[in-house]
Amino acid sequence: MIHRQIQIAPSILSADFGRLNDDIATVEPFADMLHVDIMDGHFVPNLTFGAPIVRFIKTKLPLDCHLMMENPENFIEDFVKAGAASITVHQEACVHLNRVLQKIKELGIKAAVAINPATSILEIEEVLDMVDMVLVMSVNPGFGGQKFIDAALHKIRELRALKPSLLIQVDGGINEETAALCREAGADILVAGSYIFGATDRAAAIQSLRGK
Ligand code: DX5
Ligand code: ZN
Repeated sequence: MIHRQIQIAPSILSADFGRLNDDIATVEPFADMLHVDIMDGHFVPNLTFGAPIVRFIKTKLPLDCHLMMENPENFIEDFVKAGAASITVHQEACVHLNRVLQKIKELGIKAAVAINPATSILEIEEVLDMVDMVLVMSVNPGFGGQKFIDAALHKIRELRALKPSLLIQVDGGINEETAALCREAGADILVAGSYIFGATDRAAAIQSLRGK
């Protein structure tokens, strides 16, 4: 039996950037937070946008900014000022991961660390006590619409066993079937882009991820 409360975070990477706030309004009543993908064209082979655009997002939902960038420490304050409720940085992008997470916490918002499919959970064991969430990537970051990589599931299970109180997010290739596997493995927050924004009935799509 799974008793944890599942939260759904639509990823606006798959929204229509030309009418972003209208698209956000279509998911707002049904979602728990908004997942905002920031890509720098170096850490990942794609570009999105930075804090100046995040400032214009209009929503009541908490903004969870997933920074897929090198040297994220240089931009943390900008994203906090732009309204981020939480910031996720990649273990692979931070030489001084502890320092970067400390900086996020000092600014009074939630801090999370993400790991790519090829990164073991051993790489983040030393920071588990200072983060509010861990993001397990279930695709190689950079693009929406990719296929779920099953190796994410054992990492979710191991993290859950290691720290039962940890908030575990999973991002990439989430649909009704993979969501069920992630919930079963012990994930709390399911990020989904193409599955939600590509659906004709977005409310129903979000509901299907909750598994009820
Ligand atoms: C991928 C991003 C994801 C992306 C997920 O690099 O971090 O948040 O939007 O997209 P889907 O749900 O389509 O796999
Ligand atoms: Zn993401």
